[in-house]
Amino acid sequence: MPAYTATAPGKIILVGEHAVVYGQPALAVPVRDVRARAVVRADIKGEEGAIRIFAPGIGLQSRYKDLPVNHPLRVAVDGVLHELELLRTPACSLHIHSTIPIASGLGSSAAVSAAVIQALAGFLGHPLSKERVSSLVFEVEKIHHGTPSGIDNTVVTYDKPVFFTKGLPIQTFSIGKPFTFVIGDTGIPSATAETVGLVRNAYQEDKQRFEDLFSAIGSLAIKARTAIIAGRKADLGAVMDENHTLLKEMGVSSPELDRLVEGARKNAAWGAKLSGGGGGGNMIALVESEQAEQMAQTLKDIGAANTIITRIEPT
Ligand code: PMV
Repeated sequence: MPAYTATAPGKIILVGEHAVVYGQPALAVPVRDVRARAVVRADIKGEEGAIRIFAPGIGLQSRYKDLPVNHPLRVAVDGVLHELELLRTPACSLHIHSTIPIASGLGSSAAVSAAVIQALAGFLGHPLSKERVSSLVFEVEKIHHGTPSGIDNTVVTYDKPVFFTKGLPIQTFSIGKPFTFVIGDTGIPSATAETVGLVRNAYQEDKQRFEDLFSAIGSLAIKARTAIIAGRKADLGAVMDENHTLLKEMGVSSPELDRLVEGARKNAAWGAKLSGGGGGGNMIALVESEQAEQMAQTLKDIGAANTIITRIEPT
């Protein structure tokens, strides 16, 4: 059986995190500068049915069957076997490598799952549709997030810009002109399950206030899509700024995120906001292409542990 390789990109949420969990639309785009990659190949020395997993980035080397039943990689493999109605596989090895920073809101867990699921199904001779892959990744995401909206699995599986609403089929959109973003990592792990839980508790206590915040964010996602289609940076930047203010009101920003966001704005960003679950993790700044390197340096100077420059281009 020939080896099979699959990859999936990282992602950023441009507008709409958290509100998307409550049914509002959100916009996310792939970050192709970083990727997860999985390779499955026959293991001639292995025993029948054994899958050996190697993920050096997280120090993991294990037989799949020795992983706890709720381990994300085991759930991903079990999802494929169940989907293909297979009880066992030929002996094989699964090698995973990812350049997507972990626990920072860049969709690392979803991208690893998407790569693993596609590589294993392909190796077994039954490549799966994007729709099936995305829904299997969603099942794995439940382990990380509890109640994921589905945006992460959708954007990394389809590897396309998405205007996402929970429960609705994927909608993509066109990009009027190139947009350049600098991603700044606070270096503080972002526990999405924690901030999602924090928002849920606050919502239970003051439903009206939070419903107003969510629907204001949903309107921003619609404005952002219009701005991107028309290629208007100033409009998208203004929407990002407003979104950050609303996320702060929801209590999911942090002093470190605010410092990077304010620093970006003072240094000629069109707009800036946290991206992903918040608490820590990443922020994004929309900049002129020729200012991206300078912005990355500025963010590092004021505390970013890491930066990535990424672009979305007209399709
Ligand atoms: O995985 P993260 O940190 O990019 O967060 C996902 C976005 C949330 O809206 C906070 C959660 C969700 O499931 O949509």
